[in-house]
Amino acid sequence: MGHRANGNITGACLLAVALSLSTTSATATDPLSAAGRWEGASGGGTPTPPMGWNSWNAFQTEVDEDKVMGAARILVDSGLAKLGYDYVNLDDGWWFKRRLVDGRMQIRTNIFPSAATGGPNETSFKPFTGKLHAMGLKAGIYTDIGRNACSQAYDLHSPNLPQGTTAEREVGLDGHVKQDIDLYFKDWGFDYIKIDACGLADFVPGSELVKQQNYRALAPLIERNSINRSDIDAVRGRYQEVATALKSARPDNDYVLSICNWGMANVRSWGKDIGNLWRTSSDITASWTSMLHNFDSAAKRPLYAGPGHWNDPDILHIGHEAFDDAHLVEARSHFTLWTMINAPLLISYDLRKSPQSLLDVLGNADLVRINQDKAGNQAVVAYDSDDVQFFVKTLGNGERKAVALFNRGATAATVTLLAKHLKLSETSPIVLRDLWSKQSLTFSGEQSFTLAPHETRVFEATGERRLRDGVYLSEMPGAINIAVDGTQQPQLDPTIHRMIDPWSNTRSSGSRPQYAGWGGAQADATPFSQTLQIAGQTFESGIGVLSNSRIQVRNDADHALLMASVGVDDSTENVKQTARFYVYGDGRLLATSAPMTFGVKAVQLAVNIKGKRVIELVVRGAKSNNERPVVATWGDARLVHSPLKSSLAL
Ligand code: GAL
Repeated sequence: MGHRANGNITGACLLAVALSLSTTSATATDPLSAAGRWEGASGGGTPTPPMGWNSWNAFQTEVDEDKVMGAARILVDSGLAKLGYDYVNLDDGWWFKRRLVDGRMQIRTNIFPSAATGGPNETSFKPFTGKLHAMGLKAGIYTDIGRNACSQAYDLHSPNLPQGTTAEREVGLDGHVKQDIDLYFKDWGFDYIKIDACGLADFVPGSELVKQQNYRALAPLIERNSINRSDIDAVRGRYQEVATALKSARPDNDYVLSICNWGMANVRSWGKDIGNLWRTSSDITASWTSMLHNFDSAAKRPLYAGPGHWNDPDILHIGHEAFDDAHLVEARSHFTLWTMINAPLLISYDLRKSPQSLLDVLGNADLVRINQDKAGNQAVVAYDSDDVQFFVKTLGNGERKAVALFNRGATAATVTLLAKHLKLSETSPIVLRDLWSKQSLTFSGEQSFTLAPHETRVFEATGERRLRDGVYLSEMPGAINIAVDGTQQPQLDPTIHRMIDPWSNTRSSGSRPQYAGWGGAQADATPFSQTLQIAGQTFESGIGVLSNSRIQVRNDADHALLMASVGVDDSTENVKQTARFYVYGDGRLLATSAPMTFGVKAVQLAVNIKGKRVIELVVRGAKSNNERPVVATWGDARLVHSPLKSSLAL
């Protein structure tokens, strides 16, 4: 079949193509074959991003029961708990040892006195979780997916390291998944678990650490910053085993699984299928650059998050150093950015000494509402640069938006917000309500602002939608599941803002730049963050993906048509091979394009999807693994109610 350059294809003629293809359609084992059912997270214990408090940035391993209960009390007394901050999560430092006779974990009762429930060897967190539950809060615990914990590698001077023989100090889940998960969730009554991964990374055979501390070595399954030397399947398999144990311990799905392997082992693409949140970077520190780095690690992955599964750029550092009450501009920016990208809002500060000004930042009910919006659409980049970025988050069904104008730099910046950044009509009035000052303003077309250094202005915007009768797919990332993203060789993220590693400090050759990388599906950009463009035609909206990918879209609003201009993106490195675009509805092939190559004009699809619940967008490329995948663009991809009314309101 030859190329159909720029041809308009109707649903009917696409269906005919589909029928003739049915004999060559994919087999059931082919990951690109349409599933016909939603494969994304079904909700789980955290349909909106988890909120609450975590002990780590406040106390590290010097955590104790008074400190935690103090935080819990203030959450309740200040009204933060009512706003949704209801998880109280222990981090590293709570454990004493593993009892060898039966493998049962023992709690360090000198810092958690209520855990001393019986004889010298009987400990339980039941009284502790009971107290939190009685306060209307939930309780979280911490462990490691390997044998040993991070503190056993990095906090050797801590008074609260596990004690005893080599085996007694193996406090992580390795070899004890079912036993520990049952203990934490069934016996002790926890609701949330954060599972770190130092046990898979840092206890290297022959290392000084292992020799000096007399640990059992484990050949690393994660090598930090070498994705090629990490065993992605093994790491994923271990977390999968935990997810299975959690489902059996809590058949009602009332648990939260937080994966903490710092964005390694390609967790960005599989975390959503196993956990409720997964860290996307190393630990946040109380510096501006670190905050930028962690924010960047999650900010361009909206298509991988949604109700029940969230990118996790780490707990908040509000209250400390660059984000203390003398730096309220920075504290507000940090908070605003986390709310916009649907990050978990986990305060990690000694709330007992919090000035009201910081409680007011954390207690901004409008921003909490933005973060907790049920549609679960993570904000999408609408303007990008090293100095200033705009992020737009679609709320509800798209009738409202939140927009953040973020000045990353250290000098003031004058910026112009355009109606089209918001995907709103350029001729109708747009009302912006400032979510910090609560003032409103109205504009048409464009509006300028001056942002102070490090300032983020954030508004709720209402106006006439540019697409009157539908929604761009990039406006509804919460209803999209990237089933297969087409990456053949997973790559690390490109990093621009590199910070001092919290663990090695400057005792290393530094945090080297990575110029290329990632390759996962993106909203309104290509998988390598370029502007979407097919044969010279640029698209402000759309989905960028690689060939051999499959994307699922929930058609909850029963739209009638999927429309898109599809083709090979001009940014593709593979300029030779073809890619073919397929649209399925509830598992049935509805439409396909001709094979497309670099330089061929976009083909416009208009596919009848009426009554179909799960739409699947597949791009098939050459099977060969020797070539880089083709970069494929679903330009202006949108769901509309009627073809006639789908015109743009300009
Ligand atoms: C790190 C983790 C931190 C904290 C710490 C405890 O690996 O990323 O969030 O949990 O371990 O030792």
